[in-house]
Amino acid sequence: MKNIKDQENLNQKKILLRLDLNVPLNNGLIIDETRIEKILPVINFLLKKRSKIIIVSHIGRPKGKIDKNLSLKPICRSLEKKINQKIKLIDDDIFKLKKQDLFKNPNDQIIFLENIRFYKEEEENDTSFAKHLAGLADLYVNDAFSCSHRSHSSISKITEFLPSFAGLQLESEINALKKVTTEIKKPITCIIGGSKISTKIGIIKNLLPRFDNIIIVGGMANNIISFKGNKIGKSIKEENCEEIIKQIFENSKNYSCKITFPEDVLVGKNLEGTSEVKELNEVKDDDYILDIGPKTINKITNIIESSETVLWNGPAGYFENSNFANGSYEIAKAIIRKNKNKSVYSVIGGGDTIAVINQIETLKNFNFVSTAGGAFLEYLEGKELPGIKALN
Ligand code: 3PG
Repeated sequence: MKNIKDQENLNQKKILLRLDLNVPLNNGLIIDETRIEKILPVINFLLKKRSKIIIVSHIGRPKGKIDKNLSLKPICRSLEKKINQKIKLIDDDIFKLKKQDLFKNPNDQIIFLENIRFYKEEEENDTSFAKHLAGLADLYVNDAFSCSHRSHSSISKITEFLPSFAGLQLESEINALKKVTTEIKKPITCIIGGSKISTKIGIIKNLLPRFDNIIIVGGMANNIISFKGNKIGKSIKEENCEEIIKQIFENSKNYSCKITFPEDVLVGKNLEGTSEVKELNEVKDDDYILDIGPKTINKITNIIESSETVLWNGPAGYFENSNFANGSYEIAKAIIRKNKNKSVYSVIGGGDTIAVINQIETLKNFNFVSTAGGAFLEYLEGKELPGIKALN
């Protein structure tokens, strides 16, 4: 894999730079800027080399349609402030853009294309779309490790049409994860939460042989709670997961991997409301399960206490409302307590996990922080990620 930092002659070269600026947003406001901060080195490097930068990113899952709530405008403005330089956000139809029309003003050094997932061709890994994108630039750089598990046009297909390079952050994430997975100490605990159930539930089955404990919290735990015959009210849940959950529990015995899931929960009547502790059999039809309860926290902290390595991806609850952030805070505190006497190696990953930990300003207390969520889990599975394969 060639890295852009080793390339000579980048002066005035048009670089199509794929970033993952999929930061957590709440009503158009950025809740956590870590993913923006992490890509500043590649931007500053390219600016110094006097390259012309075309930033491509996605935010959210607009499914090929324009959605004003998923505009990259707030992210573009935030980046402008951080680098103290004007950035042109182009929201014209990408298909109508031509290479010679970009950077007409010689003072323009960075342009930002609007959410690439507004085009259905992106997720289809469409060849003509990738070719058209490639036609806007001279070189391609992937500095988006956190979406390199996606076979999408601007991540995978595009490398067929341009000389392609890894970015600075992508390489450092891979090097750190390589080290983690080769020097890992047992017992190993993996905590998986968050709301992207469809992305993660299948991965759990493949992770069973690698871990001693898998702790399932967040939205995904609702599927398990429901599978075990409990009501989950109006809580989020993925359909048609019964078979995979059955296999997860069966296989966990074969691999001696203990699965832990919530035994009590915090519920609310809506996302903005207050919280109430409930046993699983007390959940009502109009309840939303939005965090783990005190008994579950206790159980999880005991497991962390007896682990040598803890990997954590995905918050335990709806942390955007502080009434449902406690489960995640307590998990973070339990890991930090062990980290203080250096008796655990801790790795956290994912935009939302970073956001919840930043709320209590404890990010520096973890051994490694990856910007990647789904990509981090797929890397742990031992899979070759399509974006990385394409660069290789
Ligand atoms: C992430 O946040 O993990 C990446 O941006 C990928 O997002 P996705 O799960 O919507 O593909």
